Amino acid sequence: MAASPFDHYRTDVGRFFDDLSNDYTAAIERCFPKYREMLIALLDYLPADRQFSNILELGCGTGNLTILLRETYPDAALQVVDVSSESLQLCRERLTSRADVTYTTADFRQLDYSPNSFDLVISSIAIHHLPSPAKQTLFQSIYHWLSPDGVFTFADQCAGATPDLDERHLRLWQQHSAAAGATAEEWQMWMAHQTEHDHHDSLVSQLDWLRDADFATVDCTWRCWLWSVLQARKNSPGSGS
Ligand SMILES: C[S@@+](CC[C@H](N)C(=O)[O-])C[C@H]1O[C@@H](n2cnc3c(N)ncnc32)[C@H](O)[C@@H]1O
Repeated sequence: MAASPFDHYRTDVGRFFDDLSNDYTAAIERCFPKYREMLIALLDYLPADRQFSNILELGCGTGNLTILLRETYPDAALQVVDVSSESLQLCRERLTSRADVTYTTADFRQLDYSPNSFDLVISSIAIHHLPSPAKQTLFQSIYHWLSPDGVFTFADQCAGATPDLDERHLRLWQQHSAAAGATAEEWQMWMAHQTEHDHHDSLVSQLDWLRDADFATVDCTWRCWLWSVLQARKNSPGSGS
């Protein structure tokens, strides 16, 4: 079979999360003490009067957000995507009794859905693995995949607007993760992962790219250290959304 342009990427990030999959939840909760609060914030800021029925989750990993989505929108059809097949397998096992979940092993850059396929696209700490131009292309694609009243929200790691703010994000994160029990080895592991696989763009750039993709309203609904929750709605209030 001919080599795919995504093979190299898949080997790197996919394998990292394949290897971590069994320990992922314990590691992320220890190393990022606000992780659960962030996942709840993602859902808390969605329009309260909406029952989403077609949801796409990008980078579901082992399913921590997927389980919350299933509980919050029990009747929705869920499509979940991840490049790590081991993580996806764990996600599937954890949701085993829950129907109406479709699992896809793929790189985000390979995805191709029809317009109006989803009313909610959601993601948690996954999109920062894409370089800036690929993020912008993904935001544009998501706009087209969403229905006219669709919502896109994602939690992610963002760069500070200046080097000193960026440095402060890292130091505060390091202090709080150490206080929550993360070891020096774990900290080194995440720093090496960041150098190899992460592409942090500023919060302001990403809000701009969402506007450039034509989203009518964009906002940051929660923020702590380098993590932010962004939300973009396709239509403005009063235009039928
Ligand atoms: C830090 S984990 C987050 C998992 C889960 N969403 C959570 O909040 O715990 C990032 C996930 O994104 C996936 N990922 C990273 N880059 C990806 C890409 N380009 N396409 C698909 N999945 C990707 C990884 O395999 C991993 O499972």
